[in-house]
Amino acid sequence: MDGAPRTSTAEHWDLVYATKEITEVGWFQADPAVSMRLLSELVPSTSSVIDVGAGASGLVDVLLDAGFLDVTVLDVSDEALAVVRDRLAERAAAVSFVEADVRSWAPPRQWHVWHDRAVFHFLVDPHDQARYVTTAGRAIASGGVAVIGCFAPDGPEQCSGLPTARYDAEALAERFGDAFRLERSLREVHTTPEGTEQAFTWAVLRRR
Ligand SMILES: C[S@@+](CC[C@H](N)C(=O)[O-])C[C@H]1O[C@@H](n2cnc3c(N)ncnc32)[C@H](O)[C@@H]1O
Repeated sequence: MDGAPRTSTAEHWDLVYATKEITEVGWFQADPAVSMRLLSELVPSTSSVIDVGAGASGLVDVLLDAGFLDVTVLDVSDEALAVVRDRLAERAAAVSFVEADVRSWAPPRQWHVWHDRAVFHFLVDPHDQARYVTTAGRAIASGGVAVIGCFAPDGPEQCSGLPTARYDAEALAERFGDAFRLERSLREVHTTPEGTEQAFTWAVLRRR
């Protein structure tokens, strides 16, 4: 973030990624299967994708494997982005990296797909939620989609020591407001590396 002071949010997540193996964190998944299933049903590989709060997720690797040419990863943690850069090695040159807090970020362009797995649910302040939705509305091209995976009503009340908000698809759609139309939803039960089950709601929200 070009010399900007680190926020407590950035410090929190940097510490997580600096001190834990990525395969140990609760949200680790070896295969981003639900994300890829939704994306491949929704859009061709010529579509642009931004993974918001991408962390060290392997989704970007799988998108490149699938032929997606316009992929952006955004995260508040430069430690997380460094993990992805190192893992991708020379393939990192094909990816745009953005170190930013989604709550204060001004998108410089638009994408066809906004993907978020396990980030929006950390926004428990309604003002932060509203800022996120406004930013998503600006960043997603008309007719594009937000693919959001967040904790379900019976999902965890906190993650990584932080409180979380929990949603069913209708509540998520309501939070996203009139600029989006709920097109599809599904439930996923994620199993953490420790064997705990976490219920997720996935929603495809079409930008009007
Ligand atoms: C639970 S992890 C999920 C990571 C990734 N989406 C995945 O599925 O593996 C949450 C991620 O959101 C990032 N994050 C949290 N708050 C953020 C914010 N306000 N702006 C941008 N990224 C944020 C964290 O750094 C972390 O990488």
